[in-house]
Amino acid sequence: MSAANARLGWIGIGRMGYAMAERLAKGGADVTVWNRTAAKAAPLAAVGAKVAQDIVELASCDVVFVMVSTVDDVREVILGPRGLLSREGAKPRMIVECSSISVEGSAELRAALSARGIDMLAAPVSGNAKVIKAGRLSFVCSGPRTTFDAALPYLKMIGPAASYVGEGELARIVKICHNVFLGVVAQSLAEITVLAQKAGVPRHAFLEFMNQSVLGSTFSRYKTPAYVNLDFKATFTPPLLRKDLDLGLEAGRTHEVPMPLASVVRDTLQALVGRGHVEDDFATFILLQAQNSGITLAPENVPVGDGLS
Ligand SMILES: NC(=O)c1ccc[n+]([C@@H]2O[C@H](COP(=O)([O-])OP(=O)(O)OC[C@H]3O[C@@H](n4cnc5c(N)ncnc54)[C@H](OP(=O)(O)O)[C@@H]3O)[C@@H](O)[C@H]2O)c1
Repeated sequence: MSAANARLGWIGIGRMGYAMAERLAKGGADVTVWNRTAAKAAPLAAVGAKVAQDIVELASCDVVFVMVSTVDDVREVILGPRGLLSREGAKPRMIVECSSISVEGSAELRAALSARGIDMLAAPVSGNAKVIKAGRLSFVCSGPRTTFDAALPYLKMIGPAASYVGEGELARIVKICHNVFLGVVAQSLAEITVLAQKAGVPRHAFLEFMNQSVLGSTFSRYKTPAYVNLDFKATFTPPLLRKDLDLGLEAGRTHEVPMPLASVVRDTLQALVGRGHVEDDFATFILLQAQNSGITLAPENVPVGDGLS
């Protein structure tokens, strides 16, 4: 990983943003970070990032990355009255918007930025913070090809894979489809793991077999510790995954595509949120599944790998 020479800004030091910005800083990039809750950004100073107190300090960077929660948050941090572009004068030449947001919201943002002469790359990602640390994050990107080419050296400092899928907001629909699949697979894995357990098979033994089968995947492997040992420290929360299922169902309505599995999973996430699992990991699918199956889960306390470390 070699340091490229643009001045970079980073807005949003949450679970994902922290790990992504950390890779830029550790790779030697000139990166200034800002987070609404300043304490979360402060530790990045130790790996060479500059920590801004005010978001407008980032306006003088060449390229600003954004990784916040929803489309409303994206609007607020970029275009809001106290956002990145709220002062006359300096503006970045490019914004790389990485949050998982709607096609429409992304198009609106692109138009607003284009009116100010700022290029935008839509660059949502696949992978959680641990995947980022393991150097396995993937970006899916859309926008002008030249914008993608200019951003690529920095994307490559964060993760090895960056796919360019075309103009406009095409990357958003790819990411939405990806996360609909994520929800459906995670819920299905919870269902069959509870079925196997209720029929007498320990979860670690069942998942060891699944992970080595043709259906095993990077995802099934890295969710295995949570499903076996019930560690629900959040990598990705039910409210954020519900947002993505909502985006998927909305896109299904727009394009008249039925999505029966996505509908059920959306409501399962709604049940998790309704039960208060808002700060936990979405692996809590397995708790709900067990409750609905009349069994109580206990951690198996068996060391199982996650395929990443
Ligand atoms: N976690 C995953 O596995 C994963 C994977 C792929 C994509 N994503 C997507 O990546 C995005 C971030 O996810 P995450 O898991 O990193 O979420 P997170 O840990 O909840 O972090 C959200 C970040 O956004 C900031 N933020 C939210 N609303 C804001 C606002 N109105 N103004 C300023 N800052 C605001 C938060 O600031 P504070 O710290 O002040 O709250 C925090 O830095 C989401 O769109 C998510 O769907 C997540």
